[in-house]
Amino acid sequence: SLAITLAACGAKKENEEGGAQSKVYVFATDASYPPMENMDKDDIVGFDIDFLAAVMEEAGLEYEVKNIGWDPLLIGVENGEFDGAISAMTITDERKQSYDFSPAYFESTNMILVPEGSEIKTALDLKGKKVAVQGGTTADTLMTDIMGVGDTSLKKFESNALALLELANNGVDAVVADSAVVKDYVKKNPDKKFTTILDTENFAPEYYGIAFPKDKELKALLDPAVKTVLASDKYKEMFEKWIGV
Ligand code: ARG
Repeated sequence: SLAITLAACGAKKENEEGGAQSKVYVFATDASYPPMENMDKDDIVGFDIDFLAAVMEEAGLEYEVKNIGWDPLLIGVENGEFDGAISAMTITDERKQSYDFSPAYFESTNMILVPEGSEIKTALDLKGKKVAVQGGTTADTLMTDIMGVGDTSLKKFESNALALLELANNGVDAVVADSAVVKDYVKKNPDKKFTTILDTENFAPEYYGIAFPKDKELKALLDPAVKTVLASDKYKEMFEKWIGV
């Protein structure tokens, strides 16, 4: 039993020093959604990235983030290829069947992005218009409900960046995406003369969560850290840095 005690001590020491036994958790993201997550040369940056860093520091766990795109993320987290995803992902009842979520860490809503002077005023005006969304997002679900399943005027793109490009190239009349993202686009492209429309009648508040494969231990390890970071000054600082007031 002395040998067993010594072996246990060794294992503990190695863990504390971040030795061979400490696990590196792998998170997936779709880094084409500024200001939440985006590529800056070779670095993934954004609100979500800073938030995850604070959470993992609080929890004392090692991790890395991989930019793999939205569809691969949805599949990869569900089947446990990744330990989690942070990607401005809205907590929905449907997704709760396939993922576990952290407590909500960010409030959002879908908004409409149109050229200045557009006659579109509400989401219902988008019926009969050409609309670009990122496929598989809540914007896709909401617009499919409004426009009808199979309406080819609803253009679904692999990334929101491609949807925005389609609008900039006059290929569509509007983009629907998350509030922070469309506002950021307008702010960074004043020359393009776009404006955002808030429609609280048709687009409800949404809340982002970190997604995990179902029934894994990481969610329980991170939930307290998520709550601590949410209540911290750090959170306010990252909000001001990436989102503004
Ligand atoms: N919040 C929306 C959703 O969960 C859009 C998220 C898209 N995120 C991204 N990184 N492209 O469906």
